[in-house]
Amino acid sequence: MVRPGLAACAQRLRRIRRNRPPDGDGVAVLAAPTYGVSVDFDTYERDLWDGRADAYQSGFARMTAWSVGPLLDAAAVTSGTRVLDAGTGPGIVSREAVRRGADVIALDADPGMAATARANVPGLDVREAILPDLPLPDASFDAVVGNFVINHVSRPEEAVRQFARVLRPGGKLALTCWEMPPSGALALVSEALEEAGVPVPDDIPTPPFAELGQTGPFGGLLRDAGFADGEAARLRWLHEVDPEDWWTTGALARIGVNGVIVSRQDPPTVDKIKVAYDRLAARYATSGGRIALPANALLATGTR
Ligand SMILES: C[S@@+](CC[C@H](N)C(=O)[O-])C[C@H]1O[C@@H](n2cnc3c(N)ncnc32)[C@H](O)[C@@H]1O
Repeated sequence: MVRPGLAACAQRLRRIRRNRPPDGDGVAVLAAPTYGVSVDFDTYERDLWDGRADAYQSGFARMTAWSVGPLLDAAAVTSGTRVLDAGTGPGIVSREAVRRGADVIALDADPGMAATARANVPGLDVREAILPDLPLPDASFDAVVGNFVINHVSRPEEAVRQFARVLRPGGKLALTCWEMPPSGALALVSEALEEAGVPVPDDIPTPPFAELGQTGPFGGLLRDAGFADGEAARLRWLHEVDPEDWWTTGALARIGVNGVIVSRQDPPTVDKIKVAYDRLAARYATSGGRIALPANALLATGTR
């Protein structure tokens, strides 16, 4: 049975999609959604990831791969650990957990991401579920990990309570998110948009993590859900990348909020944004024509 909330969400999504051109094979064919002022965060998120698995894995996932090791270490994932990888995306956390000998279940809200994770990690048990819904039994995991998913959830407090429910007593939770306000790698395209004079549209919903993406509130989120030792620390690294690749797989491929905004612009405006992007990206120049982008994230951990 389809729940009323999900049916309404699907109906709004169909309305959004009616106004979009179909996706093509390459990243140059853009979907340019507009949402209407009352779109809820979940509907926006489902549209954000729809059809983006390939672009995400060839762009942003190369940056988020850096925190996979610290995340799994924080959750004490080793051989035999029963792990839930929430918001698996293309499965990079699950792949490493499986390599460590863990027993992994992955989940993602997006069917395309779930299919990509299945293809990338043969034999992986991948479920489709929209957090905070977590259709898994109580106390069935030793570790729950989520690499950059909690910042995409409309009700993060309830999601963390659900993570507590599925953990056994003494089990570990580890979650990453981007530090707010956005900086470094996360801010490059938004700075270019600003320099090109493109206003921030008012129909894109504000994520709960605009407030929670700092060490104090992120640690507090875990403590409020019953993780008495919950705390968050900064993670810092440099993501080295070809600036043209970053432009193509991020901004032009409609990844993230800045990608959505770029996708709405006409070609002359996109050219203007690109000129600003090139100039701003040069601040991060390193050897061989590449750029080293500061990645500024947070890692929250807690024990059930
Ligand atoms: C930024 S990607 C992170 C993917 C992967 N964990 C990584 O490290 O690269 C966020 C993922 O979370 C998924 N997601 C977003 N909201 C979700 C929700 N409410 N429930 C489950 N998955 C969600 C998206 O479909 C996407 O695959």
